[in-house]
Amino acid sequence: MTNVAPADSHTVTPGMGQTAEPRRLETVPRRQRGYQSVTRDYQIAPRLTLDRHKLIQILSNLLSNARHALQDQIQGQRVLTVRIRAMMPGSFAIDVEDSGTGIETAILERLFEFGFTTKKDGHGFGLHASANLAKELGGELSGQSDGPGRGARFSLRVPLSAATEQLARRRA
Ligand SMILES: Nc1ncnc2c1ncn2[C@@H]1O[C@H](COP(=O)(O)OP(=O)(O)O)[C@@H](O)[C@H]1O
Ligand SMILES: [Mg+2]
Repeated sequence: MTNVAPADSHTVTPGMGQTAEPRRLETVPRRQRGYQSVTRDYQIAPRLTLDRHKLIQILSNLLSNARHALQDQIQGQRVLTVRIRAMMPGSFAIDVEDSGTGIETAILERLFEFGFTTKKDGHGFGLHASANLAKELGGELSGQSDGPGRGARFSLRVPLSAATEQLARRRA
């Protein structure tokens, strides 16, 4: 179910209708970025046709936030989990989960607001843009945390039908 493997590199080509295999899109930058461990829990391996560039932008933002949330955790507690799972009916989800700083309940509601940031040098654009990109993919982005110090999980849900429809339109 889980494994720790070296990060793959891949070529990014922007554009609609690219074939994307989420498990190949990860750019979990292990060595240079100080994750203690990366758990990959790929329960399914959907092969989709959607805008790969958008998917990569979303995952990059989530991974960047996770990295930031983990940076002050003590050694031994910096764990990042990337999960791909089936969601019923007809959707799949990619989760980016960290064991980092966590999020206060009051803040959870504001995560996707344009310009909302709690970082000294933050911009507060990443999650807002990512939520919009998720919608453009026919899906949605959500975030959750059990509170400060208890990590966070961001889930990108994408309906399989959206990807299939795009494929059908391209062939028409
Ligand atoms: N993985 C995470 N753990 C804890 N807080 C997070 C996480 N991801 C996002 N946040 C919170 O959401 C805010 C907005 O994130 P984002 O839109 O990416 O902007 P920025 O990274 O510039 O602050 C962050 O400032 C932080 O408070
Ligand atoms: Mg960010």
